[in-house]
Amino acid sequence: MRTDTGEIIHLEDYRPTDFVLERVDLTFELDPTETKVEARLIFHRREGVSADAPLVLDGDELTMTGLLLDQEEIAAANYDAAEHTLTIRHLPAAAPFEITITTQINPEANTTLMGLYRTSNVYCTQCEAEGFRRITYFPDRPDVLAVYTVNIIADKASTPLLLSNGNYLGGAGMGDGRHFAAWFDPHPKPSYLFALVAGDLGVVEDTFTTLSGREVALKIYVEHGKEPRATYAMDALKRSMSWDEERFGREYDLDIFMIVAVSDFNMGAMENKGLNVFNDKYVLADPETATDADYANIEAIIAHEYFHNWTGNRITCRDWFQLCLKEGLTVYRDHEFSADQRSRTVKRIAEVRHLKAEQFPEDAGPLAHPVRPTKFREINNFYTTTVYEKGSEVTRMIATVLGADLFKKGMDLYFERHDGQAVTIEDFVACFAEVSKRDLTQFSLWYHQAGTPLVSASTAYDAARQTLTLSLEQMVPPTPGQSSKEPMHIPLRIGLLLEDGTEAQVTSVSGAEMTGDVLHLVERKQTVVFAGITSRPVLSLNRGFSAPINLHFEQTPADRAHIARYESDLFARWQALNDLALPNLVAAAASAKAGKPVHCDASLIDALLAAAADGDLEPAFRAQALSLPSEADIAREIGGNNDPDAIHAGRQQIMSAIAKAGQTIFEKLTDEMVVSGPFSPDAASAGRRALRNTALSYLVYAENQPARAVDAFNAANNMTDLSQALTILAHRFPESAEAAQALATFKARFADNALVIDKWFTIQATIPGAAALNRVTALMADPLFNGSNPNRVRALVGTFAFSNPTGFNRADGEGYRFLARQILDIDTRNPQLAARILTSMRSWRSLEDVRAGHARNALRDITAGKKLSADVSDIVERMLK
Ligand code: ARG
Ligand code: ZN
Repeated sequence: MRTDTGEIIHLEDYRPTDFVLERVDLTFELDPTETKVEARLIFHRREGVSADAPLVLDGDELTMTGLLLDQEEIAAANYDAAEHTLTIRHLPAAAPFEITITTQINPEANTTLMGLYRTSNVYCTQCEAEGFRRITYFPDRPDVLAVYTVNIIADKASTPLLLSNGNYLGGAGMGDGRHFAAWFDPHPKPSYLFALVAGDLGVVEDTFTTLSGREVALKIYVEHGKEPRATYAMDALKRSMSWDEERFGREYDLDIFMIVAVSDFNMGAMENKGLNVFNDKYVLADPETATDADYANIEAIIAHEYFHNWTGNRITCRDWFQLCLKEGLTVYRDHEFSADQRSRTVKRIAEVRHLKAEQFPEDAGPLAHPVRPTKFREINNFYTTTVYEKGSEVTRMIATVLGADLFKKGMDLYFERHDGQAVTIEDFVACFAEVSKRDLTQFSLWYHQAGTPLVSASTAYDAARQTLTLSLEQMVPPTPGQSSKEPMHIPLRIGLLLEDGTEAQVTSVSGAEMTGDVLHLVERKQTVVFAGITSRPVLSLNRGFSAPINLHFEQTPADRAHIARYESDLFARWQALNDLALPNLVAAAASAKAGKPVHCDASLIDALLAAAADGDLEPAFRAQALSLPSEADIAREIGGNNDPDAIHAGRQQIMSAIAKAGQTIFEKLTDEMVVSGPFSPDAASAGRRALRNTALSYLVYAENQPARAVDAFNAANNMTDLSQALTILAHRFPESAEAAQALATFKARFADNALVIDKWFTIQATIPGAAALNRVTALMADPLFNGSNPNRVRALVGTFAFSNPTGFNRADGEGYRFLARQILDIDTRNPQLAARILTSMRSWRSLEDVRAGHARNALRDITAGKKLSADVSDIVERMLK
């Protein structure tokens, strides 16, 4: 196997650059295949750096056509241009000097979608993490902050719009059919936040007046004709701007804020200063084409990128090891924003479901790494759910440990102290330690120790003494490179529920620090005694998922049902229902495997149906309560030697049992939860649709025939209902004429809307069962499929591998071999995308032996590929280690 680079970069090797970059002047002469870039860079030697130290700049796939020092050509003997670096010697000892570099690049041929590329005739950049070096030679690292001026020249007719960061300086025609525009960004920034967009686009415009009275022009650019689909994104942007002022005291700092939606993008979106670039999937929405989930994602991602303006841009990362400094914190901020805009409980449930489905498996498998890693080979592979979502959970725990007021003080100090700097996690944590006077050394292990802690708990009630004794023990499992772990500071929110559902009035607690309802677990083993408890209480542990842990706590179904019924913390109620369901689903998988009948406890059915029928609970919560743990959740609970077919079969039978028992309730809900009037994506309406569709899906289980879903498909007047009905038909009756008919109707109706066709691909790619692979292969030949568009590839190949446990994990291994071929193919065009989809195999070791053997062989097939990218070879090697 050959790879691009193999070098491992270590946190401990960090040192500042030898030269300080003062200013950057860029001129782009745009051309689809021969774009010229002139970069004028003003540097000075850092104090104390030896006078003969050379300037070393990063580069990648560049053709250099000129190199000047203070406008004089540099002699060939004084520089070396290697594949990834440009080294310049004999530079001034103290005085500032100007380096002018001219490079030529080919945007059309750039299929990696890093650096400058073309998407639907639009020039577009993506520079995070290391894309700027594909534009010009540069000190391409986040601790090099400079002020940029950008001149863009392009053909006026085909490329009327010329955008970059900061404020618009001016522009004009040039007489030769070309025109130019100049932009100036007064805020010093690292190169990863640079952006350029040029093309012919439509725009939606608005304005926002900041708290201090600055008027900001807001512009969202989309393909011509799609403007009406950008109005929700604009609304979300304005709400984000207000919220950041109110909640974090953060105002916007330029005259203009722009968002551009493009159809070829590797990730969700990018927070370039003043010019965010988005995957159009997270901008475009209307009732006919977007689901409630799409609307919620748009709101969250618009907010996320906007919030980066302070957490990421004004204060950035010293090096890429600190990625969670901006990402974990910004995810926390967007979570809080969505919680305030919608239902806090329902948002928290969705977050925890996502964390457990994505981050917990990563933390338990070969790709596990700390929130703040200490080494990497390919930084693109560290834009992970651990850095983002676990990073957010760690930020949330700081707020839990300190309390809201001190957390706010710490954030204020962070903004004040580090504005304009590139800093570290230690700098961030120090702000909270300082305002709270708490020692956060042990807490910081959350950044450094990988693996999901396992907390084991047991309780004993002493009626004579009126005490409850809680024994806690924590264990952090070994992860790659970290065999033994220190005990962590785990903040557990708790409640003690009495028989009548009220909370026990505890008179004293010994054995642990308590702050409000937060119990601080800090030792490996801790025994905590609660006094003054007049009758046996039921302990509700880890309310609100205050700590991202696995909990081992043997509670009776009756106690869990008690929590599900009475907890004042609604998240804990959902958690209790989940805890009631899991043992049933695990047992069902075992029965299915053994060919025995599946049994479902009455206590589970009763608790679920009670929640379903409880009109005091909001519909969105009831929908979440009724959504059983996924097949992946069950696999994680079983832990090893997994048979996806047995898990699937067992779960289907539990669904049927609940459906039959609850038929009347579900019928009633489908009537009650009809949403009348014009479509609105608000959370309450979305909740009613969610509950109604959940009820519909149970009814189809109870009836075991497609009629009701066909009716729902025909009656649907919005994409949420339509795609739900289609999913039920396709997943439950894949071979039926009804499913075929609905799929064909859907395709014909939306053939010209790529984002909706992605749903059509996804629904089919996730149809359970061994036949899925043939379906996916056939769909790849469909004219609507496009193997070079990331959204299409993720919708079909990605969802098959990530979200179709029975189809992908076929016992004959064909699913893995298919994926290996796809990865090798995608890797030739877009390594980042290939590496990301390959992580779908991260839990291969927990499969039963036959499947695990096939999976290992398929991974080995990938390593035998002729020329693997650094991205894919890094992932595959770690997975096989
Ligand atoms: N900073 C972006 C965000 O989370 C993600 C960009 C990641 N890009 C990449 N090529 N790895 O908002
Ligand atoms: Zn981000």
